[in-house]
Amino acid sequence: LYLPSLSLQWIILQSSLLSLGAGILTYKMIPTIAEMTAQANLAGMDLNKKGDAKFHGKKIPESLGICTSVVYLVTVILFQLFQWFSFPNTVLLSEYNAALASICFMILLGFGDDVLNLRWRYKLILPLFASLPLLVAYAGGTSVVVPIPLRDYLGGVFDLGIFYRIYLLLLAIFCTNSINILAGINGLEVGQSVVIATSIIIHNLIELTLFTQQQPNSTATSPHLFSLILMIPFLFTTISLLFHNWYPSRVFVGDTFTYFSGMCFAVVAILCHFSKTLLLFFVPQILNFLYSVPQLFGIIPCPRHRVPKYNPETGKMEAIPSNLTLLNLFLMIFGPMTEKQLCIYLLIFQGFCSGVGFGIRYFVAPYFF
Ligand code: UD1
Ligand code: MG
Repeated sequence: LYLPSLSLQWIILQSSLLSLGAGILTYKMIPTIAEMTAQANLAGMDLNKKGDAKFHGKKIPESLGICTSVVYLVTVILFQLFQWFSFPNTVLLSEYNAALASICFMILLGFGDDVLNLRWRYKLILPLFASLPLLVAYAGGTSVVVPIPLRDYLGGVFDLGIFYRIYLLLLAIFCTNSINILAGINGLEVGQSVVIATSIIIHNLIELTLFTQQQPNSTATSPHLFSLILMIPFLFTTISLLFHNWYPSRVFVGDTFTYFSGMCFAVVAILCHFSKTLLLFFVPQILNFLYSVPQLFGIIPCPRHRVPKYNPETGKMEAIPSNLTLLNLFLMIFGPMTEKQLCIYLLIFQGFCSGVGFGIRYFVAPYFF
């Protein structure tokens, strides 16, 4: 991929402007689409308001991820067309199309899940199908760089062959499901996605800057530009959704959104080769998953919703120790707090983990790779 260096800033600026428009459009469309999903009986009780007179047990429209994700797709496809005409050397159509196919397939399966309410074990494997277009199109290497202490035994690079594609498949399954199960309080599913997307964008910008500094005369571009073009519209459309989903939620996002979001992250990390860095941004999701394992694999009973308990007298949420989630763990450590506070605490933790992740990526990893 080749590109005159000035065009880089242009592409990023143009993508940001288009994404801003997409964000505004999403923000305006959500209330209308919410009426429609509610009419189609896609609506859910707000679990953590039970017994609160202010909320009268009314149902909240579900699956508004469909609005965000469709606006997102249209934006990315329009930008693809635009980029193809203006900067043809910066586009790898096969990877672009595979990314779109996987994301689109995941949205379809997520929406299908929202409508049909699939059983948990079927939900788990949906991303496996959705990531197939990506695996087929993946043209990058299947070798990994061996950490310095192991190089005497394994050499500088180690070819994982077919196992690399299996790893990518597992990554997609993990990203989608781990966001979906770190959920249950207003704003959390979308909030964590905003923090992760922001971290990815910062990482891409750092990498692009380093790339240009190291090779000032080169006209090649780094794959991080492609990641930016997918992540900037994601961030803007998702922030718009957050405005409506923040406490007290006027809409719920549905598995349409959690799967869409997880798949977008997996796609950029796979095609732009930063899956290890992505996992650093996913530390809260990894912790929540590991802590959940006894329930997920049926060793301890797993109720349909593993949310904490709302106490209408204090207005605060209290831990249910038998529900092994990060939400309940936080309530056990920090004591009861309101739903909004709990969400903010968890998002601060997400941001903190990204900060540590950057530290590891740029200051610790260079000693090992
Ligand atoms: C996952 C979690 C489940 C959690 C649910 C919340 C696991 C194995 N599953 O299930 O414990 O309760 O997400 O999304 O960990 N809801 C609220 N407030 C919110 C968001 C959702 O009350 O802020 C409720 C609503 O009733 C909504 C429903 O959760 O209709 C959506 O649940 P869904 O996303 O279908 O649950 P899962 O993803 O299967
Ligand atoms: Mg869900």
